[in-house]
Amino acid sequence: MQPITRLADYRPSDYLIDRVDLDLRLHPTETRVTATLALRPNPAGEPGAPLVLDGDELTLLAIALDGQPTGPGAIDVTPRSLTLHQPPQRPFVLEIATQVNPSANTKLMGLYRSNGVYCTQCEADGFRRITYFLDRPDVMAVYTTRIEGERADTPVLLGNGNPVEQGEVGLTRHYAVWHDPHPKPAYLFALVGGRLGRVASRFTTMEGREVEIAVYVEPGKEDRADFALDAVARSMLWDERTFGRAYDLDVFNVVAVSDFNMGAMENKGLNIFNDKYVLASPDTATDADYANIEAIIAHEYFHNWSGNRVTCRDWFQLCLKEGLTVFRDQEFSSDERSRPVHRIAEVRTLRARQFPEDAGPLAHPVRPQAYREINNFYTATVYEKGAEIVRMLRTLLGPETFRRGMDRYFATCDGTAATVEDFLAAFAAESGRDLAAFSRWYEQAGTPTVAVSGTYDPAARTYTLAFRQSLPVVATEATAGSAPQPLVIPVVLGLVAREGGPVAATSERVRDGVFVLETAEDTLVFHEVAAAPVPSLFRGFSAPVKVEHALTRDERLTLLAHDGDAFNRWQAAQSLAMEVLVDRATADAPLEAEAGPEAAGLSSALATFLDGEALADPAFAALVLTLPGEQEVAQTLRSEVDPDAIWRARQSLRMQLGRDLGPRLLSLREALAAPAGAPFSPDAASAGRRALRNAALDLVAAADPQAGTALALAQLETAATMTDRLAALATLSLVPGEAREAALARFADTYRHEPLVLDKWFALQAMIPEDGTLERVRGLMRHPAFSLGNPNRVRSLVASFSLNNPTQFHRPDGAGYDLTAEVVLALDGKNPQVAARLLTAFNTWRMVEGGRRRRAESALRRVVETPGLSPDVSDIAGRSLA
Ligand code: PHE
Ligand code: ZN
Repeated sequence: MQPITRLADYRPSDYLIDRVDLDLRLHPTETRVTATLALRPNPAGEPGAPLVLDGDELTLLAIALDGQPTGPGAIDVTPRSLTLHQPPQRPFVLEIATQVNPSANTKLMGLYRSNGVYCTQCEADGFRRITYFLDRPDVMAVYTTRIEGERADTPVLLGNGNPVEQGEVGLTRHYAVWHDPHPKPAYLFALVGGRLGRVASRFTTMEGREVEIAVYVEPGKEDRADFALDAVARSMLWDERTFGRAYDLDVFNVVAVSDFNMGAMENKGLNIFNDKYVLASPDTATDADYANIEAIIAHEYFHNWSGNRVTCRDWFQLCLKEGLTVFRDQEFSSDERSRPVHRIAEVRTLRARQFPEDAGPLAHPVRPQAYREINNFYTATVYEKGAEIVRMLRTLLGPETFRRGMDRYFATCDGTAATVEDFLAAFAAESGRDLAAFSRWYEQAGTPTVAVSGTYDPAARTYTLAFRQSLPVVATEATAGSAPQPLVIPVVLGLVAREGGPVAATSERVRDGVFVLETAEDTLVFHEVAAAPVPSLFRGFSAPVKVEHALTRDERLTLLAHDGDAFNRWQAAQSLAMEVLVDRATADAPLEAEAGPEAAGLSSALATFLDGEALADPAFAALVLTLPGEQEVAQTLRSEVDPDAIWRARQSLRMQLGRDLGPRLLSLREALAAPAGAPFSPDAASAGRRALRNAALDLVAAADPQAGTALALAQLETAATMTDRLAALATLSLVPGEAREAALARFADTYRHEPLVLDKWFALQAMIPEDGTLERVRGLMRHPAFSLGNPNRVRSLVASFSLNNPTQFHRPDGAGYDLTAEVVLALDGKNPQVAARLLTAFNTWRMVEGGRRRRAESALRRVVETPGLSPDVSDIAGRSLA
């Protein structure tokens, strides 16, 4: 098994690399790489230590030290390392030639070919698959890259930084030289060579720099790159206005590739993207795709400061760049779209992905203390909870102090490889506050629970809120394992009058609407309260906690109707629905069971809500109509979970809402229909109207599958957007029969040349909550458009089944577990990173009821006991069983 790396063992590198000159001769199977490294002993390192360079599956062709061949016994070389036993104790130059095979690189780390295009992926430790190197983020160098290739195969040659030279080599080859003046760690290195189409624009920075922005895509798809191109320019402008950050090179290139392990990568000046997050046209992309493209373009661009100019000292600090950059992209999307609607989307993701992670065997702190395989720590906890910590910091310090802290962080850490401590020090200095207790958010795993109860004293005219926080004890490899300490929890709150309207009560402990809970228990007293109010707590989801707050149904209805905070209005509807779902799932009520008064109360509240304001903010209304997901219900139930009972509970509530609200939903659909021939716009308002129409369709179809099918078929015929077409197909996919199969077949035929659209078709079928789905998925794995070698295909078909189809993944007979384990093992030899991610589907195995639990465990054991597992899969499997 891979050894453990610990934060506590961090030591500076014994050697530093100041300059790197790379010369790459691109060849499909024999690419030659010559690296000229200007090294020197690190004053902070151990004098005289051997120089150990990292490698991974490398073949050494030649090596020279200061221009001379190395003597016998001077070096030791394996595919994984190159050791120079007695390096000079002064600056010296190593010239290293290696050979790699991009076509055989199915891990998609290092240099590989995607659809004939040469590209690289170096984070976290892929650069060592290109040349021997000190492959750690605190070794930062200035790179010059010369790329040479066949003109016919690789007319486009891109590197980091600015282009400095290009020319011919013989009759058929050419080269380009790129220079990046900003010192960077190896994980930010990139190159691209291929036949690519290009769209471009210009941006003048606030510092007066003229930047050429270009997006490169598969030839013929240039018109699908315009939205991404525009998103780059909007991101640049936003970061100048919001954080005072300007771009710092003459070119900014984005390249879309079709085989990519993750979403995208922030290589300096040369962002490489999964094409799913670049290509968009009304006919092929949904509103969600447009929103994702905008957010991910922004995310990678924002890394230029939060990640590249200031990078991470070591991989334990991953949240320093990722949490902060997610926070920045969330703010961007909120400003470009609707802030409350976006906040709800963020929280839904957090609850669906991060909360389960924090509650399962893979739980780890936002800054882990140990890891075996760093690739497995690109998690919802590091990214999404990491972003919540930055958000809490802003809430605690206020926006102005927060901005000054950010400025100080960028100013003091520019050009360095920093730590979480450096980040917090900037805010402590700017605010004069001690952030030591706050920093526990980075160290303690698990989702805190805050229990709250309120009491009104009419005689004293006081209203008292009692808070109690508790943290689960999480003892894993990645945690330090000490008893949890109280966290600093910002509670944004307000009081709402029962008949509506805010209550103007005061408390010394509330500043700018924020109460700070920093001890295990605390009470908050409001004075001059004329009547018992309804507390609105954690407005805007001001902390990533679970709230236990025993409000009555009427109190929740008051919040839904009258809260000044849109997030909490949505939350009130969610909580009302969750109560119904939990009751029904616990009682294992049959589908047709009589609806209780709670469900009826929810229906009538939603009716009032829809009548009053659905048309004023359709995007928000669509979210209010969407019930908590099955996974979220499972998290609430916590143990002995029966996924079928949860599905039935949710289905019956959808049926009831559809019945009770049917006529309203139908007239909303009419009112929101886009006029025939109206031009398409992906903007948030238009997307919101489509979202509400489709949420209405979903509920109508739940109550009346026949009517729903008819509506969906009509919508499929006339839809002008992929959003509407896919929503109709999703509705049809839930009703077994001829109509469904015919519609699916037609869709596949229409889009047979569009892999990204077929991904939606795969995903939709993999998520059908029916017994036959497993066989369907097996069949689709043999479809000509499917390939285990392409991560997008695996994610859309298999991961949709394993991660997003709870009833079928958790089939009582264990066949869902078996299929997942089988694919994990088949994939592991090709692409361990994607295999390991798929295996995280087992994260919830301990929560399910006994029979399923035993079957899940035995599938996991089968994985763990397979010889020759990758470090990635063995790490996830091992921790899942621990
Ligand atoms: N750093 C990338 C991002 O979040 C994610 C990534 C990690 C991509 C590892 C590839 C490999 O922006
Ligand atoms: Zn990132």
